[in-house]
Amino acid sequence: MGIEDLLADKVAIVAGGGGGGIGAQTSRTLASAGAAVVVVDLEPERAETLREEIEGQGGRALAVTADVRTVEGAESIVEAALAAFGRIDVLVNVAGGMHQHATWRPMAEWDEPSWDGVVSINLRYIFLLARAVIPVMVRQGDGGSIINITSISGVFGAPNHAAYGAAKAGLIHLTKSLCLEYGRQGVRCNAVSPGVVETAAVADALDDARRERMHRDIPLARGGLPDDIANAVLFFASPLSAYVSGQMLLVDGGVSVRFPLGIPGGDASESGG
Ligand SMILES: NC(=O)c1ccc[n+]([C@@H]2O[C@H](COP(=O)([O-])OP(=O)(O)OC[C@H]3O[C@@H](n4cnc5c(N)ncnc54)[C@H](O)[C@@H]3O)[C@@H](O)[C@H]2O)c1
Repeated sequence: MGIEDLLADKVAIVAGGGGGGIGAQTSRTLASAGAAVVVVDLEPERAETLREEIEGQGGRALAVTADVRTVEGAESIVEAALAAFGRIDVLVNVAGGMHQHATWRPMAEWDEPSWDGVVSINLRYIFLLARAVIPVMVRQGDGGSIINITSISGVFGAPNHAAYGAAKAGLIHLTKSLCLEYGRQGVRCNAVSPGVVETAAVADALDDARRERMHRDIPLARGGLPDDIANAVLFFASPLSAYVSGQMLLVDGGVSVRFPLGIPGGDASESGG
């Protein structure tokens, strides 16, 4: 089976799939593997642009404008996917982030709306969407795959963005809960945790000196690309990972494995890493 057939006849929902970074690339990658992609975004023109692009390349896509943070949004996404394609095999939860809802600061300086906003878009909506999608996957009887985009910030301490780190850590836990609760019905759930991904937004925030320092700390000597994350999503979405569930894969160029205290050879500049 070629990569272009990995998801033949499958239907994938990508929440936040119209975004310029990981979301759009995930939509493209799943479509290029043969899936019909339901591109969900809060911004109608983003979802529509991706739909046109995928269909222009001979793929199948549907653009859905919805707010994934609401019960109505989650239900409308499932209804639209079933009306267009008749089934749902894959759910990828990409929408997330912090800067739309809060600025970096120590926890005592957070206000409740910022905290709730960050938790809503990084954790709570995945509960709503999974709750709407799982009964469909279970009813179909031939399995399903849910993939949550978390973050390296959910794995390590996350100063000045505690709500984001806590929500992403919660999402890693939710991933394990879904694995345990629905594995017997064929539904798998895994998480992909990016390190830094040099999307346009991240690139704008990095000056040359910071980028260089960051690349020096990363064993693979570069920031991640949306493609790197989308390829990991494709693995979890496809039968290549048929016996993998409840797992969290760090896609971070190896930065997370370094011993944190200074030891000879442990420093990136000493080891040339
Ligand atoms: N870029 C990084 O360095 C990095 C690192 C670690 C984790 N992540 C995670 O990767 C994911 C994608 O990040 P990205 O920066 O590539 O974003 P992206 O460019 O993929 O954009 C996400 C999309 O989600 C949409 N969206 C936002 N709120 C929505 C809502 N309520 N309903 C429907 N759609 C909504 C936005 O309109 C946007 O188009 C996030 O979960 C983020 O936390 C990113």
